[in-house]
Amino acid sequence: MASAAIEDAAGTAPAKSVLRADDVAVHFGGVKAVDGVSIALTPGRIFGVLGPNGSGKSTLLAALTRLVPLTRGSLEFDGRRYDTVRPHTIAARGVARTFQTVRILPGRTVFDNVALGAESAGAARKAERSRARQRVRVAIERTGLAGKERHRPDELSYGYQRRVEIARAIASEPTLLLLDEPTAGMNRQERDDITGLLGDLRGEGLTQLLIEHDVQMMVEACDHLFAMNFGELIADGEPEAVVRHPAVQEAYLGKQGRAHA
Ligand SMILES: Nc1ncnc2c1ncn2[C@@H]1O[C@H](COP(=O)(O)OP(=O)(O)O)[C@@H](O)[C@H]1O
Ligand SMILES: [Mg+2]
Repeated sequence: MASAAIEDAAGTAPAKSVLRADDVAVHFGGVKAVDGVSIALTPGRIFGVLGPNGSGKSTLLAALTRLVPLTRGSLEFDGRRYDTVRPHTIAARGVARTFQTVRILPGRTVFDNVALGAESAGAARKAERSRARQRVRVAIERTGLAGKERHRPDELSYGYQRRVEIARAIASEPTLLLLDEPTAGMNRQERDDITGLLGDLRGEGLTQLLIEHDVQMMVEACDHLFAMNFGELIADGEPEAVVRHPAVQEAYLGKQGRAHA
């Protein structure tokens, strides 16, 4: 970026990475789900991960949130190594996520589910509990769940269940938000609502890593794209350039060619 280069010349340090992954590999037996991926996420931007089914996107997110062990490589969040800490530890440091398959408690209300996100930071004192409730109300409002607080998620559409998960993640006021196909199962309007919300959160400085299949939506929503195929990064950079990259075109068209063969 030109502005960053000018700032560097003026003596300002370049933006430090919120998260760095170096040479990360996750193998399941003989399956190299992720194999030698290095990424750096700088603050306040939306990063996207593109790639055909089975290319390792969800496994990369699992690695970044410590839900699967690394076969090799290292992870750093906010300048600290974390490749051996427990998932709840990295969550408590400010990494929130949503899952490709919604993981919420079907028997609890929308409010209670979202409150699980706000509770993590020791709600012992009354003032803290009150602040936590306020974070829940704000998250519910922002995800379009106002009026549905007393519903149970299983009474809601799949799109609304996804909103509950996103609300729970943002109620924790994370530094980094990782989203695995957050708009799957949503209609066009709902998807626009969610990408609008992610854009607003970026405006407030929240760093995000987003997985989605819709290439056009990713180009519009993201500041930077990573493209994966067979567990490896095949392109990394400005969104328009990444989707035009021959290896990315080949990964998508190759798949489609086989699927239609
Ligand atoms: N827990 C697991 N055990 C064995 N293989 C897995 C596991 N999770 C993912 N895989 C395999 O790793 C590869 C990448 O999967 P995944 O990360 O889910 O891809 P994507 O999210 O890009 O569709 C696939 O071949 C998948 O079958
Ligand atoms: Mg996936």
